[in-house]
Amino acid sequence: MDSREMIELCKRHTLYTWAVQDQVDPWPIARAEGIHFWTPEGKRYIDFNSTLMSVLVGHSHPKVIAAMKEALDGLIFAYPQSATEARARLGQTLAELTPGDIDTFFFTTGGAEANENAIKIARTSTGRFKILSRYRSYHGATNATMQLTGDPRRWANEPGAPGFIRIMDPVPLSFSFGTTGEEITHNHLTYLEELIQYENPKDIAAIFVESVTGTNGVLVPPKGWMKGLRALTEKYGILLVCDEVMAGFGRTGKMFAFEHGDIVPDIVTMAKGLTSSYMPLGAVGVRRRVVEALRSKYFAGGLTYNSHNFALATAQAVLQVTVEEKLVENAARMEAVMRREMDALKAKHPSFKEGRVIGLFGMMDIQKNSRGELIAPYNGAHPAMGKLGAFFKEQGLFTFMRWSSFSAIPPLTITESQIREAFEIIDRGLEITDAAFEG
Ligand SMILES: Cc1ncc(COP(=O)(O)O)c(C=O)c1O
Repeated sequence: MDSREMIELCKRHTLYTWAVQDQVDPWPIARAEGIHFWTPEGKRYIDFNSTLMSVLVGHSHPKVIAAMKEALDGLIFAYPQSATEARARLGQTLAELTPGDIDTFFFTTGGAEANENAIKIARTSTGRFKILSRYRSYHGATNATMQLTGDPRRWANEPGAPGFIRIMDPVPLSFSFGTTGEEITHNHLTYLEELIQYENPKDIAAIFVESVTGTNGVLVPPKGWMKGLRALTEKYGILLVCDEVMAGFGRTGKMFAFEHGDIVPDIVTMAKGLTSSYMPLGAVGVRRRVVEALRSKYFAGGLTYNSHNFALATAQAVLQVTVEEKLVENAARMEAVMRREMDALKAKHPSFKEGRVIGLFGMMDIQKNSRGELIAPYNGAHPAMGKLGAFFKEQGLFTFMRWSSFSAIPPLTITESQIREAFEIIDRGLEITDAAFEG
């Protein structure tokens, strides 16, 4: 099928996510390998966003494909109440890979369902109802996870369910909790403790945080914030849930991003990198003391595809590749390369406001003037960003673009020269936004 027919049929018979259907312009994709994908006509793209920030081991990894083919000759699917070898092995592997005493896992079909079930586990184990989360966050598109989500994707889903309370981030968009990391941490946690009093600490089951915030900007918590948050939640018996759907499995240069904060959460949710998107799968990892509180209670959660055997076998192969090929270590090493490239853009392009990177998790912001105002308003657009997106597409670079920002979130297999190749395209593209810079 050629690109034209593919696009025409897809648009006629299928709906696209987060879009006005009439305005959708789908990317025709026929195959993918390593850090690249191709159109049916053979145009090649650098996948500088790991597709949906999720293909961490790269596309069509031969070892994963071989393991999947082997698994196809075995058990594909089993009743959720069964015991299977794939389930036994993956539970054990995750218990070994996850820090602290997080050693019990509930398998779902993706990230949103992992967060949905984390809410249930938190409420069931604490007997409390309220859930806190941050404004600059995304936690999924199901009903309850839309309520956890703070960014504008929530708006169309409102009014939502009761019991969800959103809090300011330590680093909000324009308001400032301070200038140094320590000051921001101190002031933000002081604010949060006051808010907890207003909401009645004994009613709050959990707080959800992305350990490193993803689509809302690749925001790394300020110094000491994770530790302070951990202490605050311990003080009030509130469960700390780290959403590692995007940041987990090596993306930040550690297996889990909360390890940078030197803490162990009560619950961790994961998806994306768990199978590198070779199959849909999510998981909730639970700490021993929370599991103990849960064991004697009825857990009201289930999915037809809970612990889907083929998906679990796929995850096992992906995690083996992640460890054996030292992809977490590569992400940590490549951070300096990305940093250097971003610094060079900053020195050269007046429209380049800031680049943030941790591991192979990067985001760049474009400004419209020397006062540092972002080129597009919150949840808005700017014609220069549209042109920049079109330039990247024409030049064979696939990246995630939103408002005033675009991503540098490639597969963890990427090499230094491949990173340079992508940044060379970005460097040329920024002449477009420089032309819109107002001085
Ligand atoms: C941090 C975070 N949590 C949850 C989700 C939802 O995951 P899924 O799309 O697999 O439901 C996402 C998806 O992008 C995410 O980035």
